[in-house]
Amino acid sequence: MTLPTKAVLQQLEQIQKQASEELEKINDPKELQLWKVRYLGRKSRLTQVLRSLATLPLEERRKVGVRGNEVKNILESSLAEREKILEEARIASSLKYKKLDVTLPGQPLSVGRLHPITQTLEEICDIFKGMGFQVIEGPDVEWDYYNFEALNIPQEHPARDMFATLWVDAEVEGGKARLLRTHTSPVQIRLMEKKRPPIRVVVPGRCYRYEATDATHESMFYQVEGLAIDKNITMADLKGTLFEFCRCLFGEERKIRFRCDYFPFVEPGAEVAIECLACHGAGCRVCGYTGWVEILGAGMVHPDVLRRGGIDPKAYSGFAFGMGVERMPMLRYGIDDIRLFYGNDLRFLKQF
Ligand code: DAH
Repeated sequence: MTLPTKAVLQQLEQIQKQASEELEKINDPKELQLWKVRYLGRKSRLTQVLRSLATLPLEERRKVGVRGNEVKNILESSLAEREKILEEARIASSLKYKKLDVTLPGQPLSVGRLHPITQTLEEICDIFKGMGFQVIEGPDVEWDYYNFEALNIPQEHPARDMFATLWVDAEVEGGKARLLRTHTSPVQIRLMEKKRPPIRVVVPGRCYRYEATDATHESMFYQVEGLAIDKNITMADLKGTLFEFCRCLFGEERKIRFRCDYFPFVEPGAEVAIECLACHGAGCRVCGYTGWVEILGAGMVHPDVLRRGGIDPKAYSGFAFGMGVERMPMLRYGIDDIRLFYGNDLRFLKQF
């Protein structure tokens, strides 16, 4: 049995009104889903009305069909709108609960840093680079010849005692044995063999000595070697270069002492000391109550050393110097134990 058209149209009005009223009260996505089933689902009254269209006479079918589809469209778009409102409310409330403060700083990333010795090496090399020196390197495992023989330290020379050596080979025969270099000076000879003057280099690198470690001694430590060879290089060039270096590293005001010393590979030899940073020259434990701290050895390259490097000492002269690296930050920051540098304790290393 089919209802008269008027009654069907009334029914459609009623469906729309009821559905809209209910929809406005819905605040929950689950309820919204139920509403959708109830008013737009396959078993809903609206769907039933639309399905029954086929049974109506043509004229009425059109009237009811148009209106029925209108109601369906209205309900569908009202549903979409309600969904949007509920979604916006959900986002707003989740933000409210998390209390997101966009002005707070982000999580800090943990960053690494350069080791204090690396920083010091860079600083030292930068100063010499500014004076026209190149930075080069040499091997840690060295021949006896380069470490001793070529530097005027033959096998029975007492100066070998200054360099407690860690040997790689047991037999020492005609400079053929290998060792862990005890200083960076062997790189002087290696370079002279390869390169003609003018030479101006600094050589940062690790050195090794067979020593009991204590607050001021490590069996592995760093040195920076320097070498300049050219025509007419004099002691005045050496002194000027080293004084400029000390002023750059320790400040204009720091007093510098330059005096004689002996190293087999230089003639004359010299030693540079600076006024103690801890007591400003008054005398304290750091400087052994002398007021001065030795920072490097130096001198004019010995003619025999030049000759072994294949450079004619009548045509050329040069100066050389070598310094311990750990001592610089120890003096500067008042670090009283060299072993702290290589203990890998981050609490110490983080401070630099
Ligand atoms: N090699 C020396 C040492 O380890 C330091 C040194 C002294 C280097 C005088 C030099 C120099 O080049 O001329 O004690």
